[in-house]
Amino acid sequence: MDPSWKYLVIVLAILFPQYISAFPNGIVEGSCTTMMPNHGVSDQNTTSPYSLTLSKDTYRAQENLTVTLHSTFDGVHFKGFMIQARNGSSKIPLGTFLTSGTDSQILTCDNRKSAASHTSNSLKTSVQVKWMAPSSKISNIQFRATVVQVKEIYWMNVRSQSLTYSSSGSQLLVPALSQFLLCSSVLIYYLLTC
Ligand SMILES: *[C@@H]1O[C@H](CO)[C@@H](O)[C@H](O)[C@H]1NC(C)=O
Ligand SMILES: *[C@@H]1O[C@H](CO)[C@@H](O)[C@H](O)[C@H]1NC(C)=O
Ligand SMILES: *[C@@H]1O[C@H](CO)[C@@H](O)[C@H](O)[C@H]1NC(C)=O
Repeated sequence: MDPSWKYLVIVLAILFPQYISAFPNGIVEGSCTTMMPNHGVSDQNTTSPYSLTLSKDTYRAQENLTVTLHSTFDGVHFKGFMIQARNGSSKIPLGTFLTSGTDSQILTCDNRKSAASHTSNSLKTSVQVKWMAPSSKISNIQFRATVVQVKEIYWMNVRSQSLTYSSSGSQLLVPALSQFLLCSSVLIYYLLTC
């Protein structure tokens, strides 16, 4: 594109945000950093009626986890969402989303498949996405979602529990330790009864 066209498009987008806002198809890569829908209204200040849960609280390098976004009250639906994993207050999405079902698709944020969003504005009560953890230790990972109930009503920063790195070494340590305790108690039992 000719550079002056680019400026025109940007100026038009700033002047008429309503024409580029509300993406029922969920292709919302423009919101990668802010995770904010351009719906012309601010987010809800109340506790959201949704929750974001993970299949595990710890991860090993490139382990695959299931992330579930679901409503916490009967009869409450959502139409749109965006999910990313981040650490602390960092705005860089972490890990890679793997699969997409009929209700979800994967978006490219920060040059990786690091966000998931809706595919349509159908009414949903739950969606699941698969996510592959980073290959190294990153502290304080938490998933966060923006959830759109209807165009004018949405919540930001719906958070999951935090996820911590577990190296394979410490995974072996727990069984080894319990075996050691078992063996030593058996030994003590024999010593006492002999
Ligand atoms: C949330 O609170 C802010 C600051 O008090 C206010 O400007 C905004 O309108 C509120 N949002 C809603 C959806 O009520
Ligand atoms: C997670 O899934 C990806 C893609 O299917 C696969 O390449 C990777 O090996 C899996 N990770 C583990 C730890 O099984
Ligand atoms: C995010 O993780 C990296 C790698 O562990 C760490 O250096 C950084 O301090 C973390 N950032 C926050 C805000 O926790």
